[in-house]
Amino acid sequence: MRMKHLRLVAIGLAGAALSAGSSSAQTRTAPRPEASAAEPAGNADKGKMFYRKAGCYQCHSEQAQGGTQGPRLGPNPVAFRIFERYLRAPTGEMPPYSVKVMSDQDVADVHAFLRALPPAPPLSGLPLLQP
Ligand code: HEC
Repeated sequence: MRMKHLRLVAIGLAGAALSAGSSSAQTRTAPRPEASAAEPAGNADKGKMFYRKAGCYQCHSEQAQGGTQGPRLGPNPVAFRIFERYLRAPTGEMPPYSVKVMSDQDVADVHAFLRALPPAPPLSGLPLLQP
């Protein structure tokens, strides 16, 4: 009885460590249905540069996988209009990005960069999680 409880705690801790490193890896692997409609053309390479220049990586990490301060942004980012709306008028901890510091083209480029990110590896490929 007691052993079983300890095992469950260990599994819980492994899960917590995983989600800290790559939050919601599972929830973002399937394409979002609402993301398919009218995404503006953006340049993923320029978006990557802007992402670094604007400091998004400081909170969302280099590959947008999420960090201690900000959630995962890609691959499969939120639909473009939700993305843009949030950048212009965030409702939480994130600072706003007006058109002065981030043009509409920059927003489209960063969204293209997030869409172009490689998918997260399947959890079944992680040796640490094998029985
Ligand atoms: C100072 C830290 C910080 C910086 C810098 C930052 N963000 Fe965020 N971002 C957050 C946090 C924290 C959230 C979670 C919601 C909140 O508290 O605002 C968030 C949420 C978001 C969301 C909403 C995600 C969702 O699933 O709804 C998007 C999109 C986003 N950020 C994009 C960006 C982009 C693009 C940049 C750079 C131009 C950026 N962020 C820079 C902290 C940051």
